[in-house]
Amino acid sequence: MQRNPNPYETDILLQQYLLLHFGDAEQPLGGLPGPREAVDFPARCARELLDVSRLRGGARALDIGCAVGGSCFELARSCDSVLGLDYSRGFLRAAAALRDQGFLETRIPDEAGKSLAFTARVSGEVDRSRVDFQFGDANDLDPALADFDVVLAANLLCRLPKPRRFLERLAGLVKPGGQLLLATPFSWTEDHTPREFWIGRDMPCHEELQDILKPAFVLEKTVELPFLLREHARRFQMGFSLGSRWIRK
Ligand SMILES: C[S@@+](CC[C@H](N)C(=O)[O-])C[C@H]1O[C@@H](n2cnc3c(N)ncnc32)[C@H](O)[C@@H]1O
Repeated sequence: MQRNPNPYETDILLQQYLLLHFGDAEQPLGGLPGPREAVDFPARCARELLDVSRLRGGARALDIGCAVGGSCFELARSCDSVLGLDYSRGFLRAAAALRDQGFLETRIPDEAGKSLAFTARVSGEVDRSRVDFQFGDANDLDPALADFDVVLAANLLCRLPKPRRFLERLAGLVKPGGQLLLATPFSWTEDHTPREFWIGRDMPCHEELQDILKPAFVLEKTVELPFLLREHARRFQMGFSLGSRWIRK
């Protein structure tokens, strides 16, 4: 089947995601009286879902659907190595530039088709050399990927053609006692996922998610994780991801 062109290869989504991942509380909103608790989503995913007390020396993390790498750099504060994997070569080029240089000059959408200069920057407290990026398809992962202490998939599930196949592959990625961190707004569209594969058609989405994961994982925590994607200076996409932490049996 012919897949639609990948929207995550466009310049406009690259700019939106650089701002989502590296903007501070002021940059996305530009002084508007908006929901500041919804900014900084990628770093909050890692901070609020990861249980640092469970990590041992040499912890390895995998961020699937990492986009431009914001969560990877946050995970690198407590994990010794972080592999970010994504299906967009444009996003991965930007992520690698941020790893190599610590910053990336870009533009963000303003009013009436204009744009503003924006410098995406990784905090100087992060050891960027711990992070690596790799192209890969979450629905067809390399069998050599295994034994991670931490696996994160944020806002990825409802972008996959076969979300259940992805969830069933997770048991092979996380080592026993390791942490699976998920965040999803269950925002299904037929552009990404055929309707018959949507999770939660016949019961609440989070219950079907639990049914799929419970043979291999124990649910330890859930948390609401709002996010804000700036389309232009006066228009934003706001969503609420359900964040969850699962421990591999
Ligand atoms: C909605 S964005 C979320 C990005 C990031 N995790 C975040 O929370 O901001 C979805 C990401 O998944 C990536 N993606 C989509 N399909 C994928 C696939 N089959 N395998 C790996 N990554 C994929 C996209 O390129 C994009 O970076």
